[in-house]
Amino acid sequence: ETERTLAMIKPDGVSGNYMDKIKERVLESGFKIRGEMLVQLDEGNATLFYAELSSKSFFPTLVKYMTSGPVFVMVLEKANAIADWRALIGPTDAKKAKITHPESIRALCGTDITLNCVHGSDSHKSASREIAFFFGTMFSTGHVFSP
Ligand code: CMP
Repeated sequence: ETERTLAMIKPDGVSGNYMDKIKERVLESGFKIRGEMLVQLDEGNATLFYAELSSKSFFPTLVKYMTSGPVFVMVLEKANAIADWRALIGPTDAKKAKITHPESIRALCGTDITLNCVHGSDSHKSASREIAFFFGTMFSTGHVFSP
């Protein structure tokens, strides 16, 4: 069944110039890119995006990281897009990914458990919420960079 997921290249991926390489991996893996934009998160909207992690000890570090520069978000579409994109990016901890999943995107461009370069929605529910967050809220409130 065709589904959509929210894929994000985080600030370290954008500043490290991995956008083209990652988009190449996306397209060769059979995803269609149905929307894309470069967005700057601020403390308020990063906190909102990661609301369910707000009680974690690493939350302040996460918000600082996610607001350190623009992120590139994409709506990816294909059969089984949610699970397939998460398989392609690999484990959360990029340091481990380099050992256990050397072909994964996090092995390519991530550093550790925080600086892990990319994000993927983990369920249908979060995919809908995250797509609406970026292509509804963030878009309409003008946090998008012009080309
Ligand atoms: P992601 O799974 O995309 O969304 C939550 C993010 O929080 C995760 O990527 C990491 O960037 C970060 N994160 C998750 N677990 C930890 C942890 N134990 N320590 C530090 N950062 C974490």
